[in-house]
Amino acid sequence: MPLQLEPQVCFALRASGIACRWHHEFFMALFVQFGLFVHIRVFSCFEFCMFLSLEFVQSAWTHAGGERCFMFEFFFHGVIEEVLHVPIIPVMVVAHTHQYGCEILEDRMFDFTDKVALVTGSSRGIGREIARMLAQAGAKVIIHYVRNREAADEVMQALGGEPHIIVQADMGDAEAVRAMVEQAIDRFGRLDILVNNAGIYEAHPIADVSYEQWQESWQQVINVNLLGAANAIYCAARQMIKQRSGRIINISSRGAFRGEPESPAYGASKNGMNAMSGSLAKYLAPYNIYVATVAPGFVETEMAAQSLAGESGRQIRAQSPLNRVARPEEVAYAALFLASDGAEFSTGTIVDVNGASYLRQ
Ligand SMILES: NC(=O)c1ccc[n+]([C@@H]2O[C@H](COP(=O)([O-])OP(=O)(O)OC[C@H]3O[C@@H](n4cnc5c(N)ncnc54)[C@H](OP(=O)(O)O)[C@@H]3O)[C@@H](O)[C@H]2O)c1
Repeated sequence: MPLQLEPQVCFALRASGIACRWHHEFFMALFVQFGLFVHIRVFSCFEFCMFLSLEFVQSAWTHAGGERCFMFEFFFHGVIEEVLHVPIIPVMVVAHTHQYGCEILEDRMFDFTDKVALVTGSSRGIGREIARMLAQAGAKVIIHYVRNREAADEVMQALGGEPHIIVQADMGDAEAVRAMVEQAIDRFGRLDILVNNAGIYEAHPIADVSYEQWQESWQQVINVNLLGAANAIYCAARQMIKQRSGRIINISSRGAFRGEPESPAYGASKNGMNAMSGSLAKYLAPYNIYVATVAPGFVETEMAAQSLAGESGRQIRAQSPLNRVARPEEVAYAALFLASDGAEFSTGTIVDVNGASYLRQ
């Protein structure tokens, strides 16, 4: 149904010429307080949000056939209240340039309908959970593996088959990474979300390894964990820049902050990932591409299975006041939040998922 708005709504639209910056957290706080958060795309590239009295919202909402919502303007709200006697509660406008539809933002949280998401290392562990949750929320998922085709097939089956696809690539091989991203784009014509999750951990304690082993570990770990992610970002971001939208989520580690005495290359790779995420969050923001990081502590996956067995496992669990480690879905949940509409202002952030086992100040 065509958009029809009441006169005061149209006035509000006209008054919205001055665009402020998007302050999602502020809006969410107001949403919690007043229960009304209205969000609309007015033109193809401008969106606005507002808070209004319940009566005003209801009347305009009904008038618009329940299909559209509206916005307001911070600087003019006093004028509008006076002239139109519209009872506005707290009002502030946002206008920014990305591709939301005309829905109440709350409804868009964790809605990934038709989003195309490439999740590296999604044949197992944390990546598998991220893939599962994204698919459940409507995304078309590109499941990625390096060696374990059987596990990737199982994930595919659990996701219900098509439209999802499976791709293979060694993250340490730059050409394979390029081909992986190209395959995803060729299949779906776009790429909305890249989750850099694939990673390896390799112990190389100085006192125990030869110089050759030391070098090998550093090369291998940095190559897969850091350069692989950087290359995937390059290839994905080139497409996202064309689209003028995209999300990049990097799975880092608590070890980046706490240190990895037995695997310094792993700690360095994750610290590098954090730094890269921050830099690229700044660089890519003008293209509406948002980059954020999740830093888990120990997680119940194959990667951590050995450490989590026996006495060392008991000690690791005791690092958290919850006396346990994370479940993969708890890490996936943070990744989904960061990839969801509404999390734009969290770009550049690092979300710790470590059960308070390590507190960064
Ligand atoms: N588990 C933890 O305690 C923990 C804690 C902090 C951070 N993390 C991070 O979370 C991410 C996922 O960890 P996880 O525990 O889920 O790992 P995992 O269970 O060992 O799974 C690793 C995934 O990465 C893929 N992979 C491994 N080497 C690869 C390579 N060279 N090229 C491409 N893909 C490769 C694997 O594919 P195949 O199945 O084909 O082998 C698999 O899908 C990693 O980045 C890890 O560093 C994990």
